[in-house]
Amino acid sequence: MAHDNPAAAAMTVAYGRLSDRGIDPRQVIGNAEFGPIDVAGLYEMLGMIAATEKAGQGPTYALARLALQSGLPSEVADTLFLAYNQQSAEEAGHGDKVFGNAYFLMGGYAPSSDQSAVGSGAADFLRPGPDKQENKKRLGGLAGVLGGIETVALNNVFPLIVSLCEGWDHPIARDLLLQIRDTVRPEESRHVLIWRYVFHHLIAPKGQRVIDMYLEATNTGRRQIGGLTLDSKTFARMQGSAAPTTRQLLGKDRVV
Ligand SMILES: [Fe+2]
Ligand SMILES: [Fe+2]
Repeated sequence: MAHDNPAAAAMTVAYGRLSDRGIDPRQVIGNAEFGPIDVAGLYEMLGMIAATEKAGQGPTYALARLALQSGLPSEVADTLFLAYNQQSAEEAGHGDKVFGNAYFLMGGYAPSSDQSAVGSGAADFLRPGPDKQENKKRLGGLAGVLGGIETVALNNVFPLIVSLCEGWDHPIARDLLLQIRDTVRPEESRHVLIWRYVFHHLIAPKGQRVIDMYLEATNTGRRQIGGLTLDSKTFARMQGSAAPTTRQLLGKDRVV
């Protein structure tokens, strides 16, 4: 079937793959601002989320290494190395293991990076250079962008996916709900904590101009995945009054 409209063509493919798996693609399982969402809509979202999560693996892996070359106090550098390294593994897990596998079980092949909302995740620009000050700047900028993405994922994207899964009485949906509850949400909460840790250790001590730049980077990240921008008051409230501890960042202490 020829289509002029790529989105309609993609939906035709989605309908075919879901039907091949014995899944009714047209069952309506929820509503969003733009209208009702059917199983095929969930399928499309899972492909996008899997690719976007996977794209988080490369930049966080690179940030961990950049943190060691940014002239930071060794305790801060070590904490960021461990936290970003752990995040890198977790994003790969969300992309491949959680959302990628659900997408596959619904008939999708491994999602490709062109389905990602944030590009392929190539991180060559994060390779540490000789200038530690410059490295620190890039670290702060990307930490803001990533934090923005994480806040939208945690507060908007996952709640929508959870409500769609709850509306779809199917083993794939039930399994995905458990994985989001037990694995993805606690890990994403810690990723937001890294954003707060960077704010309190690297950004806030530098004064208002640098704080404003961090807010702008955060909003850049939020816009990348369709989130609303934060005003400075909300941003300040989300940062809280103190940095999270290293143990909280690594998931060794419960975050309350
Ligand atoms: Fe993730
Ligand atoms: Fe994350």
